[in-house]
Amino acid sequence: MTSRYREVYDAWRRDPEVCWLAAAAALDWSKPPSRAFDANAGVYGRWFPDGELNICHNAVDCHVAAGHGERTAIVYDSPVTGTKSRISYKALQREVMALALAMRGCGVETGDRVIIYMPMIPQAIVGMLACARIGAIHSVVFGGFAAKELAARIDDAAPKLILSASCGIEPARKVDYKPLLDKAIALAEHKPQAVIVKQRPEGGATLVDGRDHDWDILRETALQALDEGAESPCIAVCSTDPLYILYTSGTTGQPKGIVRDTGGYAVALHWSLKAIFDTDAGETFFCASDVGWVVGHSYIVYAPLLRGATTILFEGKPIGTPDAGTYWRVAAEHGAKVLFTAPTAIRGIRKEDPDGEMAKRHDLSKFAALFLAGERADPETIIWAENTLSKPVIDHWWQTESGWPMVANPLGLGLLPVKRGSPTVAMPGFDVTVLDPNGQPVGPNTMGAIAVKLPLPPGALPTLWNADERFRQSYLTEFPGYYATSDAGFLDDDGYLYVMGRTDDVINVAGHRLSTGEMEEAVGGHPAVAECAVIGMHDAVKGEVPCGFVVLKKGETIDRASIEAELVRTVREQIGPVAAFRQVLVVDRLPKTRSGKILRRTIKAIVDGSPFEIPATIEDPAALDEIQAIVAAR
Ligand code: COA
Ligand code: AMP
Repeated sequence: MTSRYREVYDAWRRDPEVCWLAAAAALDWSKPPSRAFDANAGVYGRWFPDGELNICHNAVDCHVAAGHGERTAIVYDSPVTGTKSRISYKALQREVMALALAMRGCGVETGDRVIIYMPMIPQAIVGMLACARIGAIHSVVFGGFAAKELAARIDDAAPKLILSASCGIEPARKVDYKPLLDKAIALAEHKPQAVIVKQRPEGGATLVDGRDHDWDILRETALQALDEGAESPCIAVCSTDPLYILYTSGTTGQPKGIVRDTGGYAVALHWSLKAIFDTDAGETFFCASDVGWVVGHSYIVYAPLLRGATTILFEGKPIGTPDAGTYWRVAAEHGAKVLFTAPTAIRGIRKEDPDGEMAKRHDLSKFAALFLAGERADPETIIWAENTLSKPVIDHWWQTESGWPMVANPLGLGLLPVKRGSPTVAMPGFDVTVLDPNGQPVGPNTMGAIAVKLPLPPGALPTLWNADERFRQSYLTEFPGYYATSDAGFLDDDGYLYVMGRTDDVINVAGHRLSTGEMEEAVGGHPAVAECAVIGMHDAVKGEVPCGFVVLKKGETIDRASIEAELVRTVREQIGPVAAFRQVLVVDRLPKTRSGKILRRTIKAIVDGSPFEIPATIEDPAALDEIQAIVAAR
């Protein structure tokens, strides 16, 4: 099939207004937008400014109303608990209506914030949709974060309610969410009015009198009320009203609250599921991420449901639950057309099953393509997956901020030739450019900062939560007229993008975005530490893992092994296990420039065994020798 990509991209370039209004017409608006974009609203403009809709109505109720209530909305497959279930659109509607009613009973109103701190169970999706139903703004926090991180998000979002669960199940241990939540609420200055806790059979939690409610009890009461005629309607909101806040790592310990609007997001996701992932109503989409990440928000929850497709909610890991064939088993058993995961998961599977034998045991006849994102997809991993699956393996590039792929190879429009190592080309809506430090576009095959010409399309962030100025400073001031992605790379002669790495101190650990600056704040806060540097070290499965170098305060007598163990514990307690901070080395001094800047890139090159040049501005070259000797000895 010849790709329609060029035609569609050019049509968008010629007339974005027409293009996005046409995409918007596929949704059910309570007040259809009369125009696509208002350049004078918000920080750089707002999408569908006079439209009104409810995204839960579009993701659930309208499919039931159209006679598809019996179709499966969610397949819950949980190898860690040995549970599998299917939830129809009709059943999902009833669950969402009940929770929305219960939340209103807890005092939640349109515009209020609700934090969702939950494992990968159907109630997490029900919680997100129930918020959307009543126009409350959800903020999902990934379960692998520690209480302090959760507390920072509670203080920033100031939620009226928190939805949680008693525990999550990791392959090697049960994670008790409730004590973490209680600790976070104690640490936070803002206190939620209420907490609703799903008690799981794998382990219950103690509820705090007067604040905490048992999910199932509230649910039963609400279901009964619905049966007796209570109403739980979808409340239409302005297209520009926030649907959610999703916190992501920036350069400091203060996470950035990415704001997602309602109408633009709905339009972009609905369009992208078909055009990019070639998945539509009645088909099954398997996104093996977590609802705590943007990938989970967009492609576990909203996009498949907006399209009337079936989404798979998988509670497990690519390996060890129980083996490296799990993803293929889930894809085959539920007839998934597409699997979307991070390259790290494929590297993990490959390590356990190098010849791909486990994939061959499953009937993948409905399977059309594997999509990879979240970190660079190395060609070796792509080739292994292509050989194992005999299906297209598609790298695509995006960020929490963009909400959906900025650069991809659109399966639904017809694939373009694959160039391994490149996520392919800019999607309609994204004018992707590579700039030099002065903000001038560079020619093909020249490295520079990857930027997107403003305005960003529907679905991308309009601003940061309560922080327009931080939004401008973080993204819009470096290159006036552009959104700075903080990724570096180049475009080739055919307009294919190559993403080579971050320009800031964000690292990607097993597809999870983390800030080394934040880890440095945690390590540097230890009373024995004088100064420190944390770098991302190459890891064969996780892509990168953090590695810390610390200088102790003068006269500090603590032995190296003890301080190293304490610092590992500190980062785990302050940021969370997901940081995978397991290596820290004590050194006499850190290599610096004469102006005092720590040479993190040079340290990283030494640790990774990459070639490096000793910077001319180095203050004390012997500091590098010490690091080289320590690394060589390990
Ligand atoms: N709740 C609580 N803890 C969590 C968690 C969660 N939701 N997710 C991860 N953790 C913990 C893990 O238990 C582990 O803790 P430990 O130090 O006690 O072992 C730690 O965080 C690191 O976890 P993880 O990143 O999953 O590493 P791993 O070594 O356990 O497994 C992989 C390695 C490659 C299998 C795993 O990283 C993986 O599944 N990666 C794919 C990630 C993905 O799909 N990302 C998509 C983002 S778009
Ligand atoms: P997140 O916001 O967690 O989705 O992380 C976004 C960052 O992950 C990007 O800025 C990139 O640095 C990296 N990333 C995501 N997808 C890709 C990809 N396909 N290739 C290279 N880097 C990627």
